[in-house]
Amino acid sequence: MKVASTRTNFDVETIRKDFPILSREVNGKPLVYFDNAATSQTPQQVINAIVDYYTRYNANIHRGVHTLSQEATDAYEQARVKVQKHFNAAQSHEIIFTSGTTHAINLVASGFSSLLKEGEEIIVSALEHHSNIVPWQMLCERTGAKLKVIPMNDDGTLNMKEYEKLLSEKTKLVFVNHVSNALGTINPVEEIIDKAHGVGAAVLLDGAQAAPHIKANVQELDVDFYVVSAHKMCGPTGVGMLYGKEEWLKKLPPYQGGGEMIATVTFEKTTYADLPHKFEAGTPDICGGIAFGAALDYMNSIGFENIASYEHELLEYATEKLQEIEGLRIYGTSAEKTAVISFNICDIHPYDIGTIIDKLGIAVRTGHHCAQPVMDYYKIPGTVRASFSFYNTKEEIDIFVEAVKRAKNMLS
Ligand code: ALA
Repeated sequence: MKVASTRTNFDVETIRKDFPILSREVNGKPLVYFDNAATSQTPQQVINAIVDYYTRYNANIHRGVHTLSQEATDAYEQARVKVQKHFNAAQSHEIIFTSGTTHAINLVASGFSSLLKEGEEIIVSALEHHSNIVPWQMLCERTGAKLKVIPMNDDGTLNMKEYEKLLSEKTKLVFVNHVSNALGTINPVEEIIDKAHGVGAAVLLDGAQAAPHIKANVQELDVDFYVVSAHKMCGPTGVGMLYGKEEWLKKLPPYQGGGEMIATVTFEKTTYADLPHKFEAGTPDICGGIAFGAALDYMNSIGFENIASYEHELLEYATEKLQEIEGLRIYGTSAEKTAVISFNICDIHPYDIGTIIDKLGIAVRTGHHCAQPVMDYYKIPGTVRASFSFYNTKEEIDIFVEAVKRAKNMLS
């Protein structure tokens, strides 16, 4: 397996050259892409891995004796090992490839249907994305378990005192995002895990928004499940990962039936394949898995410490500049946050700001960000959300701030 070496100098202009899309124009202006929390852009190295797969060795995996099938199988399984090493899972079969974070969460929620009893409790947080709320509500409907919610504070952090009060011997599962997608808050996951384990509950961390910025170490965290999407970390859409401790993955029943996930099939009885295949029914996104591995190589070649410190610089710079705009309020002001700024200006609708700045070539997300409870807490319909990546620059932030000022002047 090729090991990615870390670049010694962080040079954003050199990095930007890896991303062909960053040199395009939108509405006659150079693209300023600040919607990285929705999806990140794709470097040429990952595009090359995709082209290489379809050009040279496209074949189904684990099925053929022929050379192409073996090459594809090897590359796919090597990608699994890259994911394992990246997140420091103890074993590669603890990595299940999924279509993304949502699929991974649903796989676990579905599996717990047979493990939960009426009256037992599940805890989620007020900061969750809908994908970490709805599957648990459905699980509660199926099992009679109760959903409890850790409330949030004004600065977008979690109320940890209330969390402690919610925990009891009835708590079986705790589900929290590592980083809030709407506000960027980095949650105190070590403490959340320790306390949950103290009452014997399992913990699932939604790492979708953390993984592009923080290299989570699942063994050190001692987390039971960790889920991510490749497309937020320079990989393609349609692929992601469920990490589960072996003991949990063995306990959970298969999520879907089909080819690949079986050991033997007769009409009387089917036996299931070993991990990880038990959870990978059907032909997976083979190319996606391989490209996910290439994306991890790429990000590791930049270095997560470099990424975090550079993005923090961008966050501080943008926060300071935006705060100069009268009437602008930033939601989510935790000291611990990733490079995400959610804001509104006076009572201007976020959609109107997003539409105007798009005409100036700037991409941000507007709306409730699939986190309606967070918006309800602040009693707002949504926010403008700018989310930065390591390939963004301070010059782009200057362009963005001027565009926001212009939008404000037009709309007020
Ligand atoms: N969950 C993604 C976001 O926050 C789509 O934008």
